[in-house]
Amino acid sequence: MANVNTRLNVAPVPPDEIFALNGAYAVDTFPHKVSLGVGVYRTDDGKPWPLPVVQKAEKQLVVDNDLFRHEYTAIEGDVPFLGIARDLMFGFEGKQTEEEAKARIGSVQTVAGTGANHLGAIFLAHHMKPRSVWLSNPSWANHQTIWELAGVPRKTYPYYHAATRSFDFEGMMSTLENDAQEGDAVLLHACAHNPTGLDPNKEQWMAIADLCERKNLFPFFDSAYQGFASGSVEEDAWAVRYFFNHKPDMEMCVAQSFSKNFGLYGQRVGAFHYVTNRSSTSIRDIVVNNLCHLIRGEFSMGPRVGCSIVKKVLTSDELTADWHQDLQVMSSRIKAMRQALYNELVRLQTPGTWEHIIQQNGMFSYTGLSPKQVYALKDKYHIYLLKSGRASISGLSEKNVAYVARAIDDVIRTEN
Ligand SMILES: Cc1ncc(COP(=O)(O)O)c(C=O)c1O
Repeated sequence: MANVNTRLNVAPVPPDEIFALNGAYAVDTFPHKVSLGVGVYRTDDGKPWPLPVVQKAEKQLVVDNDLFRHEYTAIEGDVPFLGIARDLMFGFEGKQTEEEAKARIGSVQTVAGTGANHLGAIFLAHHMKPRSVWLSNPSWANHQTIWELAGVPRKTYPYYHAATRSFDFEGMMSTLENDAQEGDAVLLHACAHNPTGLDPNKEQWMAIADLCERKNLFPFFDSAYQGFASGSVEEDAWAVRYFFNHKPDMEMCVAQSFSKNFGLYGQRVGAFHYVTNRSSTSIRDIVVNNLCHLIRGEFSMGPRVGCSIVKKVLTSDELTADWHQDLQVMSSRIKAMRQALYNELVRLQTPGTWEHIIQQNGMFSYTGLSPKQVYALKDKYHIYLLKSGRASISGLSEKNVAYVARAIDDVIRTEN
């Protein structure tokens, strides 16, 4: 750095672990390498899977030859898409009438789920000024970055009980009860918690909703896996819909991603929904107006193509039924791979307990492997997972699961 002459004050930022791991995997020439790092769906051959329903919709969109397909949309995004995204998320099967319920929600299109989290964070930082945002410990690493950039102090609530490899409900509740302040935001994963794969059960969700209401905390839902986790869009939206329907006097918001459930990762499809309480629906349009102000200054409007695909699918009964099939294919393969890994570890009598692998939900398993074991897996077996022990189950296949189990067995026995 001797001859550098710059006005900048910059220091290197650590690389994003997931993308760095992916890069290392890509250049690894070992024929039996296994990628359990990045959270993307893969087939049993380890290949990306453009959803058949998405391919069908794409063909129809080409036939439609929509003259407007490369034009600008509105600042809030594609308005029909936003209605469809909102209906998918909230369902409207609650006690309120449909129109009253919808009047509580202001929606804008975002740059996928990350963009929705970011827009929501910036919006709250400007207009709600929470003293803190509470993130689960652990959480998706990007939550830290997003809220750091929004300038909101971050605190964490316990989420994972390492000894039992289970959800630490008591820890979460007592921390929020004792330490969270009125007006703080609480980041909640709508389903398939990333990285642990552990979700609250329905009774626990109800208790979390009660706590948020009683302490006047602001629930910020991140929904990145609707339909992908269980195969059912209703089941995976249960928590969001419960808060929405049963706590109508509470404000909340949802960052919604279509990356995983439509396999539209690089298309960046998402939405941000702000939910007013039932007595403040008159501010909904002002909220949208302010969100548009932020959008205009940052990216002018969300991208068009991916949301046209989602819109095409969800406005056709036939394509929607196909999509539900595709969700079943993805979620069933992941469940089958969890079971297969568990079966192999049990068969090998690998030291430790492994039930958590089949009890966890969604794309990821928090395996419980230590950083040293994770390193040994990479070094000796060319198996790539995050140093926290998070494994993306979709990287497992009929062909490699026995290899992965044997490798885990070996690194654990070698250490013992
Ligand atoms: C918890 C969580 N939130 C949000 C996202 C954002 O996904 P995207 O920006 O690709 O839609 C992800 C993706 O990994 C995630 O796991």
